[in-house]
Amino acid sequence: MTVPSPFALEAVNITKRFGAMIALDSVSLSLRRGTVHALLGENGAGKSTLVKCIMGYYLPDEGQVLFGDREQSISSPHDAHLLGIGMVYQHFTLIPNMTVAENLVLARPRLPAVINWRAELASLEKEMKGMPFQVPLQASVNTLAAGEKQKVEIIKQLLLNPKVLILDEPTSVLTPNEADEVLSRVRAMTQERELSVLIITHKFREVMNYADDVTVLRKGKYIGSTTVAEATPQSLAAMMVGRETIASPLQRAQRQRGNASLDVTDLWVENDNGVDVVCGLNLTVHDGEIVGIAGVSGNGQKQLVEVLAGQREPLRGSVRLHGAAYTATRAQMHEHRFRCLPEEPLRNACVGPMSVADNLALRRYDRPPYSSKSRILHRAIFKRIAREWVESFGIRTPGIEAPIANLSGGNVQRSVLARELSDAPHVLVVANPCFGLDFGAVAEIHNRIMAARNGGAAVLLVSEDLDEIMEMSDRVVVISGGKLVHETTPATADMTRIGQFMAGH
Ligand SMILES: Nc1ncnc2c1ncn2[C@@H]1O[C@H](COP(=O)(O)OP(=O)(O)OP(=O)(O)O)[C@@H](O)[C@H]1O
Ligand SMILES: [Mg+2]
Repeated sequence: MTVPSPFALEAVNITKRFGAMIALDSVSLSLRRGTVHALLGENGAGKSTLVKCIMGYYLPDEGQVLFGDREQSISSPHDAHLLGIGMVYQHFTLIPNMTVAENLVLARPRLPAVINWRAELASLEKEMKGMPFQVPLQASVNTLAAGEKQKVEIIKQLLLNPKVLILDEPTSVLTPNEADEVLSRVRAMTQERELSVLIITHKFREVMNYADDVTVLRKGKYIGSTTVAEATPQSLAAMMVGRETIASPLQRAQRQRGNASLDVTDLWVENDNGVDVVCGLNLTVHDGEIVGIAGVSGNGQKQLVEVLAGQREPLRGSVRLHGAAYTATRAQMHEHRFRCLPEEPLRNACVGPMSVADNLALRRYDRPPYSSKSRILHRAIFKRIAREWVESFGIRTPGIEAPIANLSGGNVQRSVLARELSDAPHVLVVANPCFGLDFGAVAEIHNRIMAARNGGAAVLLVSEDLDEIMEMSDRVVVISGGKLVHETTPATADMTRIGQFMAGH
């Protein structure tokens, strides 16, 4: 009798090139049956590319995928699904204007010609009983908050009963509590039934608490694998970047509070469904201070940022910059040096098919030095500035002419930050600036935001990461039900009270 392989899945010597750039250089990974295996690496290290090669989303140039003891030729995600490999991608793949139930049914690799929706709904309701968490089956996906969507993505895969589940940064859109809930349930499932999980994450806490093994990639190369029991966050960080790391501490300059540069009065905003989600909000941010807005997602912070970024019309109320009425036109943004890093930057702050160089120029392409008064674009200047910023912000890209949509998630984020922070902003609005960034990038971005504040910018920081708010802010406000319900400073904050205000008590 042959002894079955202890591995549910093995990737052996995978090489993947995109043009001249080697995204993966002979990388191997072995996933033990019934375990959770974490894949770690800096932004652009090749993590998503490796799992996409396993799934047949990309065809590797060299190497094999072994599944269930034999070499498999997986040439499309459909093949992978038929074998029992499921994957939750780094970006949402749900169809927004369909219900959760419709999305779940349509995800099956084989569907009958005519779908009996009533019977499907009944059987889904039954199947949901065995799932680690519940989702509202009848709700339309576009009404769900990011955390709920992510749960639907995971349930969609679990319903297909996979043997191997691959999760690409499943927790970057979840709050720490939601992440704990999701990961502890997924981990329990690996022990209850034959499920093996490969998870990509930037959070050491999640690796240490929920994974059995860990593999580290750096710049497309395999660095090593170890059991989590033998690892520490420090040893993993050193493997990721190739040296011992000492985080540079935040330099918060002492400054007097300046003028009220951003002033929001009695602002009312509705969401896509016509429901008021910002309800009479008042807020002032002064020069040289960071005001952090803490809150559970879905309490109006997203729509507030959209109004400031010019992506949504308010119902009523006023926004003033440096005392002047502000309606988020491009001319006003330029005049007041208003800069913004919204959520989901690839969707909200970039043009995906356009090059990195053109995206980096979006704020100022029609002004000197990018173009002359007669509106002639100086392409050489576009290239020179793009090269400078790629270098100084450490953007990992195949080149400045590559479409920005081809960059890894973290590198899109860096590109937008480079554009928004490079010309000394006076008013800066940032929403969840560190989602999906590796630990080194988080420290660097925090330093850059702090430098903008030290330089006199009025900074509004919206974040679901309470630790980030406490570390960065001069003043902290809590948003609940579309209003600011509490104000404090990090030095005097009572975390229990903040938690109560966030929960709406
Ligand atoms: N379709 C593509 N065309 C060209 N280059 C690509 C493509 N997909 C990825 N790359 C490049 O391959 C490298 C690895 O990208 P990948 O998305 O695998 O990184 P990652 O480790 O998942 O990073 P992150 O933590 O930021 O998500 C990056 O430099 C990226 O620009
Ligand atoms: Mg990735």
